[in-house]
Amino acid sequence: MPSLPSKVSIVEVGPRDGLQNEKQTIPAGVKVELVDRLTAAGFTNIEVTSFVSPKWVPQMADAAEVMAQIRRKPGVVYSVLTPNMKGFEGALAARADEIVVFGAASEAFSQKNINCSIAESIERFAPVCEAARAHGIRIRGAISCALGCPYQGEVKPEAVAYVAKLMKDIGVQHIGVADTIGVGTPRATQAAMEAALKHFDLADVSGHFHDTYGQAVGNVYACLELGVSRFDTSVAGLGGCPYAKGATGNVATEDVLYLLRGLGIETGIDLDQVVATGQWISGILNRKAFARAGNAIAAKKAA
Ligand code: HMG
Ligand code: MG
Repeated sequence: MPSLPSKVSIVEVGPRDGLQNEKQTIPAGVKVELVDRLTAAGFTNIEVTSFVSPKWVPQMADAAEVMAQIRRKPGVVYSVLTPNMKGFEGALAARADEIVVFGAASEAFSQKNINCSIAESIERFAPVCEAARAHGIRIRGAISCALGCPYQGEVKPEAVAYVAKLMKDIGVQHIGVADTIGVGTPRATQAAMEAALKHFDLADVSGHFHDTYGQAVGNVYACLELGVSRFDTSVAGLGGCPYAKGATGNVATEDVLYLLRGLGIETGIDLDQVVATGQWISGILNRKAFARAGNAIAAKKAA
């Protein structure tokens, strides 16, 4: 049996990845309350919003307002997505602790999501990374469609390694391997992760798995077996990408925390508070939470 990490850190991406695809307008105050509740639950890294074109992703148009109103806890890293220098300027003004440049292992998805080729995206990200470095802001990269693409189909691990290297070369410090459409299974996920690990240390990679096919918890476990100790998750399993039709939300934070607790792996996060937050935001969105463990824990409490 491989030994698993004794500690895992979770990046809660619900406020950003979770809400970006919502059709109903969500008031900035609700987003702020969501972030504040997550801060209180013990997350040390929260992806708050995106400084992207409001024409492309209208739900994130209030990025500056949300960032200005959240109650920050010292030591917590509040991250934002930045596709270009305009986005970086927004992030800088908003005092983001970390920026995320988001590329793809698939040419087709790169075009659909950020309107440029993979090579052009790296050209845009390079000055963003340089500026972030100059301001002492942490730099994370995301590689979308690392396990499959809604437009192109199969994506090979070599494509993940290729983008990981390009990102490393421009100064990205941490790379997230993202299964945007949730098609990956454990061995394929390990292969994609190992491709990223050709260019990044074990401590500098994370898994970002959408749960469309119900494989995400298994894929998290497969990465734990490799020694990966950081994952993006979304409270109540919120989310989806506007440019990946049919893709559901990220793996639910509640489900991953339940898994980790069962494995005796420390996270520093209060599962009960996350469950309550998941139920609260799902109520606001007028739907049932997509969190199996979260719903089970909530039902038990209510009984
Ligand atoms: P473009 O149209 O090629 O950009 O879009 P442009 O530079 O030609 O500018 C066009 C207009 O957008 C201009 O405004 C710019 O000012 C404005 P106009 O003069 O027409 O009024 N603009 C901006 N406004 C605000 N903030 C900005 C910005 N940049 C330009 N940063 C662009 C290119 C990248 C901007 C666009 O394609 C875009 O915003 N895409 C974002 C898509 C997105 O957010 N997708 C979801 C996040 S990624 C994701 O979910 C995957 C992830 O979770 C991992 C996974 O699961 O795979 C991370
Ligand atoms: Mg995502």
